Amino acid sequence: MSEEKLGILGGSPVNSEPWPETNTIGDEEKKAVLAVLDSGLLSGFRAVPGEDFWGGPQVRELEAEWSAYFGASHSVSFNSLTSGLFAAIGAVRIGPGDEVIVSPYTMAASVTCVVAYGGIPVFADLEPESYCLDPASIEEQITPRTKAIVIVHLFGYPADMDSIMEIATRHHLTVIEDCAQAPAGEYRGRYVGTIGHIGGFSLNRHKTIQAGEGGVMITEDSDLALRMQLIRNHGEVVVESFGLEDVANTFGGNTRMTEMEAAVAREQLKKLDGLNSARIGLAAYLDRRLSEVPGIEPQRLQHVNDKHVYYLYAMHYDENVVGLPRDLFVEAVRAEGVELRQAYVRPIYLEPMFQQKRAFSKGNFPFISEFHNAKGAYDKGICPVTEAAYERELIFGNFARWPLTKGHMDQIINSFQKVIANRNVLLAAKAV
Ligand SMILES: Cc1ncc(COP(=O)(O)O)c(C=O)c1O
Repeated sequence: MSEEKLGILGGSPVNSEPWPETNTIGDEEKKAVLAVLDSGLLSGFRAVPGEDFWGGPQVRELEAEWSAYFGASHSVSFNSLTSGLFAAIGAVRIGPGDEVIVSPYTMAASVTCVVAYGGIPVFADLEPESYCLDPASIEEQITPRTKAIVIVHLFGYPADMDSIMEIATRHHLTVIEDCAQAPAGEYRGRYVGTIGHIGGFSLNRHKTIQAGEGGVMITEDSDLALRMQLIRNHGEVVVESFGLEDVANTFGGNTRMTEMEAAVAREQLKKLDGLNSARIGLAAYLDRRLSEVPGIEPQRLQHVNDKHVYYLYAMHYDENVVGLPRDLFVEAVRAEGVELRQAYVRPIYLEPMFQQKRAFSKGNFPFISEFHNAKGAYDKGICPVTEAAYERELIFGNFARWPLTKGHMDQIINSFQKVIANRNVLLAAKAV
């Protein structure tokens, strides 16, 4: 097999069949949505105090079931996790000039939620094994202005929460966990999202469980829960009836989940354990088989009680050992019919908003204003581990997912081995 001509050079690929898509929607979700449609009550919210303020029956059931699953005191649903993160930052009372430590390697909403309230995102670097924030780097970024940390459990891998919470407690910081990619992932036997002060989950269509769109925030703190509920539902007109003295950041929008989405999410939550088990099983098989491929290493868990839930299957790529530049390797593997990808996202601070320090229509607020001067804070080079992952060291795929099988995992390994066995032919062909 490995001596055969590479797909990229016109040979037959390892795999010529498209892999099956993941579709977790079944009869249960269809029945649940039809029942909502039959009821005529497609959304249950009104911006008035009283029962309607908390959402329709499906939304409230979902929140109760979410709390029961995660062992949380409060769940607050939203139309997306982006909205939930914005509400969380608002609830923590972040304001102009406040610093929030964030990850540079994540979906943008885990950072822009800070900017929305005039706060300053301060980027800490990643821990090279997990691609989650490195506690030592977090500590280096703390100043008297630091108010909170947004942790991302990237790809489904749990961040080092004990160290992070120890730092946060010492410096009186609030910790928000972005668990979009790690629903029911565990750190030392505890669900991620339940360790910090607020945890957030996404139900967008790419996630392990989905409702089309949607997000759920969990917390033990009833004040934070109420403030998130106010922000999702025009809090400005009801704050008095809740007796809130500090009304800062309680003005809201309409970021509510619909009843159809909640009905789908309730059914999906029942499937989460099974879908995660399938991911973990495939990842364990891939981990074992990757030992046959020098230069490509799977992510290794730091502790037996940690649970990676493999939203994405990430690997460390060592160009010197593999003998091919990463982009050429990925291109050649893709030509073998395997959906490998490189890098993930550009480090967020390299995006134009940070490079130009331009978020709003006038001036450089919040980055440079009477409240703060973040000059130089977003220069290239500030997070070397992140930049190395982005530029050279990270490859990944949406591999470890139902309904893929060990046969598909074998195709990944076969394609890696075939490309590596033919690397000199490939390099020579590319040189002409
Ligand atoms: C790490 C992370 N945070 C936040 C989000 C935002 O979630 P949503 O699409 O529900 O707004 C995503 C979604 O891709 C994500 O992956």
